[in-house]
Amino acid sequence: MNKYALSSLLRQVGLIKIGDKIRFYINFIKTYRLRKQFFKENRDVKLPPAYYIYETFNLNYFSFYNKSIDTAKWLIGHFEKYKTLENISILDWGCGPGRVIRHLPSFIDNSCKFYGTDYNQKYINWCSKNIINVSFNTNTLAPPLNYERNTFDIIYGISIFTHLSKKMHFAWFNELLRVLKPGGILFLTLHGNAFKEKLTEAEKIKFEKGELIVKSNTKEGHRTFCAFQPTSFFKELVGLNEILEHIPGDIKNGKPQQDVWIIKKSI
Ligand SMILES: C[S@@+](CC[C@H](N)C(=O)[O-])C[C@H]1O[C@@H](n2cnc3c(N)ncnc32)[C@H](O)[C@@H]1O
Repeated sequence: MNKYALSSLLRQVGLIKIGDKIRFYINFIKTYRLRKQFFKENRDVKLPPAYYIYETFNLNYFSFYNKSIDTAKWLIGHFEKYKTLENISILDWGCGPGRVIRHLPSFIDNSCKFYGTDYNQKYINWCSKNIINVSFNTNTLAPPLNYERNTFDIIYGISIFTHLSKKMHFAWFNELLRVLKPGGILFLTLHGNAFKEKLTEAEKIKFEKGELIVKSNTKEGHRTFCAFQPTSFFKELVGLNEILEHIPGDIKNGKPQQDVWIIKKSI
């Protein structure tokens, strides 16, 4: 049985989250040496518990910390095309244990304000204790966010819609627009065409017709709850707001990359 068939079976019988926890322990044992090496080389770096890293990313401390510095710089490169990064407010929606937002204040003018929010209280507790120069907040699975309307110049969400139901796609898109200033930038990553290999044949047909595919039967928002967004579905969600960029993900080293969408709030 291949890994897709196994996870499909576990999902059907309601055991996908337990299966995923077992996978974490296997990974934890396998990455023991790498973990030791990371802490030897980075004595001053504070990292969240291993499970938080696994649950929101993958259990490689070097990728979680060092490579995410590059991700932060890559993100800034996109922001700079559309906003002057001075005196502005930036929100990381679904910041997890702070993988990306922790690096932004080091590379952006200190007149800017940084915020992070997530529905997982444990991550926000860790971030609040360990990350400086960022204000953190917990939100609920469904909107609203704990911010006034028109608060942010830039909001980014890296792999958040990828774990939400159809109903939440509509609710959250509207909520992000509510707290974004007119002319503000929304940067999102989604499971586009490159992820079709993760779908069953029946799901692929629906995806190609433009239907959102949701693999559920587990806790919504968790890594085991997966949504796949065809281009036409997302364009419809964006409505009359301006799509500044859609960068389809490709396959790198055998792994699918998420699509990047950059939207300007124009209505
Ligand atoms: C795949 S992780 C990505 C974390 C982080 N953006 C990163 O790139 O490292 C998905 C994150 O979305 C968060 N999340 C899921 N549903 C959410 C919701 N409704 N509101 C806020 N955060 C949510 C999860 O708790 C988790 O931290």
